[in-house]
Amino acid sequence: MNQANHFQSEGPLERIFMLRSLKATQQLAQSVASISIPGDVIKLKGPIGVGKTVFARAILRSLGCQEEIPSPTFTLVQTYQLSNLTVWHFDLFRLKHPDEIYELGLEEATLNGLTLIEWPERIAFFSPKHHAEITFSFDPHGDRIATLKGYGNWNRRLIEHNLEENV
Ligand SMILES: Nc1ncnc2c1ncn2[C@@H]1O[C@H](COP(=O)(O)OP(=O)(O)OP(=O)(O)O)[C@@H](O)[C@H]1O
Ligand SMILES: [Mg+2]
Repeated sequence: MNQANHFQSEGPLERIFMLRSLKATQQLAQSVASISIPGDVIKLKGPIGVGKTVFARAILRSLGCQEEIPSPTFTLVQTYQLSNLTVWHFDLFRLKHPDEIYELGLEEATLNGLTLIEWPERIAFFSPKHHAEITFSFDPHGDRIATLKGYGNWNRRLIEHNLEENV
């Protein structure tokens, strides 16, 4: 991608990463964690088994979480109190009605926590001005591809922190 494309006037900035190993996924999670700030929302999209929970877990680990990190498949949300940040990890696959999200604490989460959302399509109306969206997909070899889109101030962060593509 040439430099000019990094400053498109319309639409979010987009970066693509080949994740040829679990380690590559963990490294991307670490980079994303390092530029995250309280109040952030990170949407994690992609089909079943593609690596959304693996990625969320790696973010939590790189932020210092030492407790067990189960998938919120049935609880729909798990929260983690870290030293100076609360991380909310949602999995909305089993959300029955979009309004249920408020009972799960979305507003409190986005106030000053870090909000990670698997299956954000379940609350498609929820599109904060500033957020990151990572879409994972399978490549023909069974590796993973991550497309990271930065909305609002995430655009600037992706440029400033030089999160380089590795395609
Ligand atoms: N490069 C990779 N990155 C992430 N996970 C990988 C990779 N290669 C293989 N895997 C495997 O893929 C699986 C991903 O499972 P994970 O639970 O994270 O999926 P998910 O996207 O959260 O699915 P669900 O929609 O059911 O919540 C894990 O078993 C992991 O070991
Ligand atoms: Mg999952």
